[in-house]
Amino acid sequence: MNTAPTFDVDAIRADFPILNRDVNGQSLAYLDSAATSQRPIQVTEAMREFTQQSNANISRSVHTLGAEATEAYEGARARIADFIGAPAAEEIVFVKNSTEGINLLAYAFQNASAERGADARFQLGPGDEIVITEMEHHSNLVPWQQLAERTGATLKWLEITDHGRIELENLDEVITDRCKIVSFVHVSNLLGTVNPTEAIVKRAREVGALVAMDGSQAAPHIPVNVTELGVDFYIFTGHKMLGPTGIGAIWGKTELLEAMPPFISGGSMVSTVTMERTTFAPPPAKFEGGTPPITEAVGWHVAIDYLDKIGMDNVRSHEKELAAYMLDSLDQVDGLTVIGPKVPIGRGATVSFDLDGVHPHDVGQVLDAHGVAVRVGHHCAKPTCIRFGVNATTRASAYIYTTKSEIDRLASALDKVRDVFA
Ligand code: ALA
Repeated sequence: MNTAPTFDVDAIRADFPILNRDVNGQSLAYLDSAATSQRPIQVTEAMREFTQQSNANISRSVHTLGAEATEAYEGARARIADFIGAPAAEEIVFVKNSTEGINLLAYAFQNASAERGADARFQLGPGDEIVITEMEHHSNLVPWQQLAERTGATLKWLEITDHGRIELENLDEVITDRCKIVSFVHVSNLLGTVNPTEAIVKRAREVGALVAMDGSQAAPHIPVNVTELGVDFYIFTGHKMLGPTGIGAIWGKTELLEAMPPFISGGSMVSTVTMERTTFAPPPAKFEGGTPPITEAVGWHVAIDYLDKIGMDNVRSHEKELAAYMLDSLDQVDGLTVIGPKVPIGRGATVSFDLDGVHPHDVGQVLDAHGVAVRVGHHCAKPTCIRFGVNATTRASAYIYTTKSEIDRLASALDKVRDVFA
């Protein structure tokens, strides 16, 4: 019997009431899932049910609601670990979003550098190097810039080819034996590129550097297995994968999380506290100071159940088809240049483009008047825009609920933009 999940976009859409609404008198075509995805009723219902029936703080009380809340929170941790192939639930640290996850890691280096006796792998100083790429979201650029400034280490990056791929020709020159950490994006939020990981991870290993990946735009769209990727840290976020805002995670190997100094300090992350000093709880608690996003964890758990029920291979296939269709459709629009890979291979269904002579904000406004929601601007990846000679782009991004007819509406609304600004 074939038990493989089937992909039925109409059935999926029925779970997302927001997709039925009108915008400016037109039915909504939501093509901004790279900014945030929509949430199915299963997620919102689970959060409502938890709030109405089990709401309590975790790990602090012996009462029944507290136990239920703790079980729900830890259950979400285990589910999320399983989803990305992590060996243990305790290797998932909940954070607010990917930005916080990357900061948690960057601050581990900063705090270790300031501490005596900290693990040598996290100590940085002049002569040490940090490597990223030119296609990072600011969240995987600014924390490393700050870290380099504060420790005297040098920030280096792999460049981007004209085709929107990471330049791997000079990998050995960029990642040298002075490198302590390589942190790179799995799928670009601006270009849509799905990056090959093997060569970069292999080179980082050769020089003894740690490796982190920003999976914010990957975990929602492609099957991810952190063990197979062979990295040390993987960072991703709930709201781009059908879950709520306010929760994300950094996965790290237990042994590394143990070696890292904490980030936020205060309640819940301690072992013993006296007026003079504190010892810290083992990970993940060591990194989860304060009351965490409990209801959000419940929602994210259900979002992951939803994705798994569809099957991540099916998600990827659907989006490959949409990427090819979107590239073809956009190719027919006069004066439009795709910024990023122009072929549907090695990319996702997030496509940025420039419409000759029309500012992206104007494009976005005319599209909105036609019910088509896209993101415009630099997409928190300003250096990547500059690399392609633009200050901003218009970006259309698809997800599991996106249909080809919504892409047709994008293309025909773009023709109207040209008419308006002709
Ligand atoms: N990081 C999100 C985006 O790319 C907000 O739109």
